[in-house]
Amino acid sequence: MTIENVRALVDDRPSDGWFSVDRAAFTDEALFEREIRHIFEGGWVFLGMDSQAAERHSYFTVTIGHTPIVVMRDGEGTLGAFVNACPHKGALICHRRTGKGRLHVCRYHSWSFDSAGRNVAVKGMNAGAYSKEFIGRDRNLPRLSAFANYRGFLFGSLVPTCPIEEHLGEARRLLDLSADQGEGGLELVPGEIVFTFDGNWKYQLENCSDAYHFTSAHPSYIRLLDKRAKERRAESVRSIWEKDKNWSEEAEGITGGSYSFDEGHVLNWGLIGVSDAVPLFERAEILAERYGAARRDWMFNMRNLTIFPNLQLAENASSQLRIIRPLAANKTEMRTFCIAPRGESAEARRQRIRNYEDFFNPTGMATPDDTVSYEDCQAGNANRLQSWAYGYCRGATASVTGGNAFSDLLEMNPARSVLGDAMLCDETLYHSYYRAWLARMEAGAARETQDA
Ligand code: FES
Ligand SMILES: [Fe+2]
Repeated sequence: MTIENVRALVDDRPSDGWFSVDRAAFTDEALFEREIRHIFEGGWVFLGMDSQAAERHSYFTVTIGHTPIVVMRDGEGTLGAFVNACPHKGALICHRRTGKGRLHVCRYHSWSFDSAGRNVAVKGMNAGAYSKEFIGRDRNLPRLSAFANYRGFLFGSLVPTCPIEEHLGEARRLLDLSADQGEGGLELVPGEIVFTFDGNWKYQLENCSDAYHFTSAHPSYIRLLDKRAKERRAESVRSIWEKDKNWSEEAEGITGGSYSFDEGHVLNWGLIGVSDAVPLFERAEILAERYGAARRDWMFNMRNLTIFPNLQLAENASSQLRIIRPLAANKTEMRTFCIAPRGESAEARRQRIRNYEDFFNPTGMATPDDTVSYEDCQAGNANRLQSWAYGYCRGATASVTGGNAFSDLLEMNPARSVLGDAMLCDETLYHSYYRAWLARMEAGAARETQDA
């Protein structure tokens, strides 16, 4: 497969009102290997939260593409990210998803490494008749080419790349919006869920931003919401949302919209208002004092954020952090966590967790609907008669360059934006994914040509 073949998979012609992705992008094994090398191993990817290795000498493991990674906090409290493979013969050093240890001894021939990734002992070094060349070599765990902590969100790259602020671009304002909800940022609620589905990773990428499927794929959850809304009306909803001037003027007929960013990050969002259906309600006054009413109101909006290529943050009546890990063209692993503001009350935390269990996880009322749909698409996209998918066209005439009054409230300048009512369900925000996807594929191909 050449880079020309890759380019031919995306038909990007907004001036003609047309955008499409060839179905082969979801099924082709050779393309998948290229994605691993150039999308995942070729730039910034999300690794985890700094709270996953909160204490000295604690660590968590993750992968970037095919590369096993360990993120460790050393004895000084500094976080480092390393390839989790022994320089001797390549055996994994840390085997658990999370753990703690001052010293990591390789199971195979007992080379040992400290929590700063330094090789501190080679078993039988003196008796080993090693050459000067060997003794002089760096035998530490290889450090990632780039590693950054943005407000508790950890990112790494296997290749030298731009500063993290540049990669996050204007979308970092949305991470700020989440991190500002708590006293001292966000934390993961204990209890990680890992599951797989038999479908391509890009279904998950798109689905997070897909408002169009909600009423079709999640009828049982919607029935539950209706039932609760009736009960809540009976006890009258406690709401302090006054629709201040900024919002009420712009919000006429608008229920939400989308933003897309140059780097492939996207947000779709819906107006909710400050209501006690959201666990943040107890902090509504404090947050308004600290950040102003408009920014506080934004914190209560339903938001689905993707930081390309593998981080998703879904905030509604609860809040979920997802990490997408592609395993094969037709297999994907999801690692998901409930994420919450630090310092919220036990009551709010309970509400958050109960709402979380309703909606998310393989045991919740929404996730199974979604994953079954991805598997349906994987089966259907095996066909070779229809090349081009039609799922990228809603919102074509509503999408405008730059932001709008709502993004202005966050001092955020997206590349494109859409505003609409509940029926619009924009699909143009996926374009941003595929433009960033192609940019990384092109950069990867250029790197390979350079190296050849
Ligand atoms: S592979 Fe680790 S010590 Fe041999
Ligand atoms: Fe869904």
